Amino acid sequence: MHDTGAPPSIDTARGFVPETITPPERPLGLVRGLLQMVDNPLRVWPRAMYENPYHGVRWLGRTFHYMRSPDHMKAIFLDHVDVFEKSPFQRRLVQPATGDGLLSAVGEHWKFQRRAASPAFRIDALRALVPAFSSSASATVGRIRAAPAGAPVDVMGEMQHATLDVIVETMLGGEDPGFRYDRVSQSVSDYMESMGHPDMLDMFGAPHWLPRPWAQKGRRAAAGLKQAAVNALERRRAAGEDRNDLLGLLMAARDPETGRGLSDIELRDNIVTFIGAGHETTALALTYSLYLIANAPEVQDRLLAEVRAVAGDAPVDAGMVEAMPFHEQVIKEAMRLYPPVALIDRMATRDIRLGDIEMKKGDLVFALIYVMHRHKLLWDRPEAFDPDRFSADRSGGLQRFQYMPFGAGPRICIGMKFAYMEAVAILATLVRALRFLPNPDFRVAPNIRITLRPEGGMKLFVEPR
Ligand code: HEM
Repeated sequence: MHDTGAPPSIDTARGFVPETITPPERPLGLVRGLLQMVDNPLRVWPRAMYENPYHGVRWLGRTFHYMRSPDHMKAIFLDHVDVFEKSPFQRRLVQPATGDGLLSAVGEHWKFQRRAASPAFRIDALRALVPAFSSSASATVGRIRAAPAGAPVDVMGEMQHATLDVIVETMLGGEDPGFRYDRVSQSVSDYMESMGHPDMLDMFGAPHWLPRPWAQKGRRAAAGLKQAAVNALERRRAAGEDRNDLLGLLMAARDPETGRGLSDIELRDNIVTFIGAGHETTALALTYSLYLIANAPEVQDRLLAEVRAVAGDAPVDAGMVEAMPFHEQVIKEAMRLYPPVALIDRMATRDIRLGDIEMKKGDLVFALIYVMHRHKLLWDRPEAFDPDRFSADRSGGLQRFQYMPFGAGPRICIGMKFAYMEAVAILATLVRALRFLPNPDFRVAPNIRITLRPEGGMKLFVEPR
């Protein structure tokens, strides 16, 4: 068990200071650094990275650029988006599961799929999904109420269950035997454990075909998810109906220029992509939100007052979601402190200079979202939980690229609005029915495994109201 640093503290003048990994005071040596990088990159990045804007590391003939300044983010994700492509590193992490679906595709293939999926994410389409968000949250309340009293609840598992139910309902239009929570959660965990961290062979530039026996569990999990997607597609075709859910829209999409639709393999890859990208991240945003409010009772009380004033006892609908700005602030602040996607990587496809930084074709760029979100030069009291930094009054002072939980530019998360509406509806429904309480015996240790998961889940005490 690792030391996670200082236990959390509540100082009424400064707000709750949540727990995280304490960065090393000085850079680790090469061997220790590499070993720790595989274990958890947050244990490698030294304190100085939270106080200065950039450093580069030369390794096996190319430079790794570690970025955490908003100007660099703008340059990479917006101004020179044609130069910085998805890196082979990222594609290797996710592609065994998501194939060439929207998350991993590049060039024209990406553009076509993005156009095809966009109608499903327009605001009108999303507003119609809010009842599905609320009913999944009500089912969660029922499960937690039925759990043995007095024992801590793993709210991470509960949030994964809730968000998986949502994405399967909205993507496939109802329960699907291949995507039941117990099966998918096991597959996703196996995948993250075995493939979700930097691979030592990749770090040494070993070729892709070299056997990596430790990745076998992950590959099996990916194959299971793909098969479940094929089955879902076949069932839909056999039913012979046109439906307006996400799968229906993807099946009906045609490229306006060529008239081409998505092939069966593209449909399969996008089912896995949307189910994977759409539930794990939102579950983590909610998991950390619940941890934070359990330790900041005054914030939890403000949420309760807001949902009672806006929704009373009624199921939360789209209009109510839009009328609860404080809920969104809490979720935003949770994703500042614990961005579900803590690191986004790109590769330079040609030589380029960004200010003083010289980059060569093939160099890797790491956008350190977690570090930028806690950077001393960008945030007042960066380590403190303060949802009011995102209030209408105060958020005007933020720079556009200093907060990037959903990425930025043309490849910004397609599900951003979906995720905010879902997270608000679920948080409101939970807080109205349940009180979340701290668990002094549980240490919170976030770990980067594709997503930023807390090690060992998130065990909180929960009481019915
Ligand atoms: C809190 C929740 C979420 C977070 C933090 C999140 C984060 C992100 C980030 C950072 C990216 C950009 C990756 C890159 O640039 O390399 C991304 C892309 C993507 N996300 Fe999300 N996401 C969330 C929810 C969702 C949901 C609900 C869906 C679907 C229903 C979704 C589907 C996708 C897809 C398909 C992409 C690829 C988009 C493209 O490349 O065009 N995400 N997400």
